[in-house]
Amino acid sequence: MSLSQLARSIAESPTLRLNEEARILREKGEPVINLGIGEPKNKAPINAILQGAARLTSGDVKYTPTDGLPSLKKAIIRYTEETYDRLVSPENVIASDGAKQCLFNILFTLCNPQDEVVVLAPYWVSYPEIIRMCQAIPVIVTPEDGGFHPRFEEVVRAVGSNTKAIILNSPNNPSGAVYSDDFVGRMVEFCETKGIYLILDDIYQKLVFDGLRPKPGTAFTRADSESTKLIIVNGVAKLYGMTGFRVGWTIAPRELVRVMTNVQAQTTSCVSPAMQVAAEGALVGVQNVVESLRLTIQNNRDVLMQELRTFNGVKLRKPEGTFYALVDFRAYSNNSVELSNFLLKKALVVTVPGKEFGMEGHLRLSFAGTVKELQEAVARMKWALDPTSANEIYLGDRKLVRDWM
Ligand SMILES: Cc1ncc(COP(=O)(O)O)c(C=O)c1O
Repeated sequence: MSLSQLARSIAESPTLRLNEEARILREKGEPVINLGIGEPKNKAPINAILQGAARLTSGDVKYTPTDGLPSLKKAIIRYTEETYDRLVSPENVIASDGAKQCLFNILFTLCNPQDEVVVLAPYWVSYPEIIRMCQAIPVIVTPEDGGFHPRFEEVVRAVGSNTKAIILNSPNNPSGAVYSDDFVGRMVEFCETKGIYLILDDIYQKLVFDGLRPKPGTAFTRADSESTKLIIVNGVAKLYGMTGFRVGWTIAPRELVRVMTNVQAQTTSCVSPAMQVAAEGALVGVQNVVESLRLTIQNNRDVLMQELRTFNGVKLRKPEGTFYALVDFRAYSNNSVELSNFLLKKALVVTVPGKEFGMEGHLRLSFAGTVKELQEAVARMKWALDPTSANEIYLGDRKLVRDWM
């Protein structure tokens, strides 16, 4: 079949594929535990559900302005003022189908073929693929010290005359690391001075633990909304656990938003109005859902850390935010794809190979699920890998005996 070379070169999303594998196994009655996907178990905030449902029952579900309903934009402007201490106008805002579409539209709008976009490892799997879809080149900066983010100097070294943008994602998927204010401040100053776009993927911004209060990128610039090089991406997926609503937004200078709006108009037209009003409902409703979600996830993180500390050989770094831990399993295997497949086959636990994020030898474990699942998943992984653990285990009501070591 004669298909586009570019399209054929785009990798499948490993997290969505693993999620699908888990769903199929579960449908067959297998007691799978999914530590692959990053979505919490909570129900969407009630205000989001009521507003979305009211819109559907009204029957008024038509195209909206491409860049979003004025009322949703108003709620986003208020969120931006409260979170970033920055008053933006409606022309600086565009709502899209999730942060993923925001990132695609931004990169499609910014990049000419062969432009370079700098990505810091470990990175979210979709960045390099989206960059390549926009015919640009991902330049990956891997921390020399093997840590969870490169130093400022290492990032600067990767910048050249073709660099169009740098993407920063903090708190970070997959590592759970929160970049220091000093690092973010230096990156902002560097990009504003050099005229390089700095895309701040702030999708996990409110999911930080232990009282950490990282400053937003906007705290480090005096440039106004039109001259700034900062582009902010946000959304309801992780903030409220509303992953399936598919609403994200971009804050950027108005010329960029204007062109992004044309791009969106020729592709998806607009976000469904029912989902837009649901997102607005979440943003204007009571905000204690955000804190209660954060506390639940922080507690999950603590449970996962406690369980993993008793796992021989694995090396841990405590996540400071997000729902993910990137755990070093090199004591068991340097091949994270093989290890992840082994754990799925033997222990029915879904993990995501670190290789997908530029961190071979690691597995990304999501702690967005329940405490019980986390405890059981670690017990199963220990049984599958650690010869000092008991060699019998129950998976659901099936007793299994380890016979491979
Ligand atoms: C770092 C990062 N950015 C963006 C997204 C996409 O968010 P959305 O579901 O709003 O498209 C994700 C989803 O996992 C993510 O981890």
